[in-house]
Amino acid sequence: MSQAVTRTGWATRFGLIMAVAGNAIGLGNFLRFPGKAAPYGGAFMVPYFLALILLGIPLMWMEWTIGRHGGKFGHGSTPGMLHRMWHNPVAKYIGIFGVLLPAMVGVYYIYIESWALGYAWQTLTGAYWGKTSQAAMASVFSDYLGMGGGGPISFNARAYFFFLITFACNILIMSLSISKGIEFVAKYAMPALLVIGIVLAIRVLTLPPLEGRTVSEGLAQIWRVSDWSVLRHSDVWIAATGQIFFTLSVGLGMVHSYASFLNYEHDITLSGLTSCTANEFVEVILGGTIAIPAAVVFFGVVDTRAILDQGTFAIGFHALPVIFQRMPAGQVFGVMWFILLFLAGLTSSMAMFTPLLLFLEDELQLTRKRAAIGIALCVFVLMQPVVLFYHRGVLDELDYWMGDFCLVLFGALEAMIFAWIFGMKKGWAEMHLGADLQVPRVFYYVMKYITPVFAVALVVWSAQDSLWRRITMQAAAPENVPFLWLARAMMLAMAGFLIWGVWYAWRTHPKFFEEAAAKRRS
Ligand code: PHE
Repeated sequence: MSQAVTRTGWATRFGLIMAVAGNAIGLGNFLRFPGKAAPYGGAFMVPYFLALILLGIPLMWMEWTIGRHGGKFGHGSTPGMLHRMWHNPVAKYIGIFGVLLPAMVGVYYIYIESWALGYAWQTLTGAYWGKTSQAAMASVFSDYLGMGGGGPISFNARAYFFFLITFACNILIMSLSISKGIEFVAKYAMPALLVIGIVLAIRVLTLPPLEGRTVSEGLAQIWRVSDWSVLRHSDVWIAATGQIFFTLSVGLGMVHSYASFLNYEHDITLSGLTSCTANEFVEVILGGTIAIPAAVVFFGVVDTRAILDQGTFAIGFHALPVIFQRMPAGQVFGVMWFILLFLAGLTSSMAMFTPLLLFLEDELQLTRKRAAIGIALCVFVLMQPVVLFYHRGVLDELDYWMGDFCLVLFGALEAMIFAWIFGMKKGWAEMHLGADLQVPRVFYYVMKYITPVFAVALVVWSAQDSLWRRITMQAAAPENVPFLWLARAMMLAMAGFLIWGVWYAWRTHPKFFEEAAAKRRS
């Protein structure tokens, strides 16, 4: 047995739960969810809730358990954690996903988050006031992203300025200790986010009918099942399950890092469930009530669908600003909406580089200062193509690989390692150490059989659905192809560094020598 390390981390349980909930609650809840759900109508909710119960919540428990278990051995990131659960040389390399994915999601997520800040400012100053049509707001948005002139790069000084501020906030919070950085921000930002979200939801629910269109018609877009037959196609299943992964931040390596600061006196079952519940409340209740129903009242069902077809950001950045201009005190609600998005984004992104930071500290033995500076520089460089070649699809390419496909793949791999290799019996016992909630026994079997199989099926399904088309860039415009390769090169460079890092750490870090020596002795 090698050394058990106590890591100091969270100051309070409230802070921990706020941080985990804050990590889960993000842009995904307010922008991605409505965009994924509405095209299918209420039928989407069937696979969505099935995936929540059979995949999302069990994976959440597994990840808390893997993280706390690994933390006891001084590992704050998944390469070391999986190595402690499965003594096979590949385990640590599989763990690389848990560092790569959150970091590369961070590389594009922070840019989107900065738009929210920029738009909060523009709403406050009334910068786009007077552009009251959808089309006009769409062009405000493309100008904001620097795509208006059709030049070789998508650059706008104002957007870049907000990007720099957002980037600096994230790096600053990341480099502080867990309790002074992440926990502190989450403790204040999350309650504020909830209040703003509830106020906006009430505002939408009390909107008077407009030309005969009511809020209930809007809610029906998300909740009423008009066509059960959509469930026969795999795309709704892939969309709904993928959304569960993304919104709960499972399959990414984040939850593990948070849990690595806990010990066996700390409960994880109740905390894990609480963070899922908080996320789902914000997603389906608040996220489902704000954007789509408001759009339906103002534009009608047909136009709302057309807006959704324009992409994930159209509803939040074109449609709602039009609506704010048409309602009383709209400027106030507009600022609230963008602050809501910004806080949701920040409380998610501020931890996206934490697994990488902990990997550099724990396994490569860098000081926090060096690790933080290294990350800041490297991420800053990686973000430039995301910003400057946004119009070439760089962001989209990163999102597909990191935020759509690989997280399901990693989720499947870790579920198998947990349930079948580490063993469900051991895993179940480990998970219940210090537990405040005895998980119903049926979940033992769900976690043992259903979660891994469901996750693997999903990987196969989504591979069939889109992988080959993506790899071969069939849907890409020819002029974008070099830029998509650039995006891939970025992901591969980061992966290459991590592969080297794992190889090097396991050859040089004293904790692995001690482990080998202990094995020889026993
Ligand atoms: N769960 C977050 C959301 O819904 C996204 C996220 C991705 C958070 C990766 C952390 C890491 O927006």
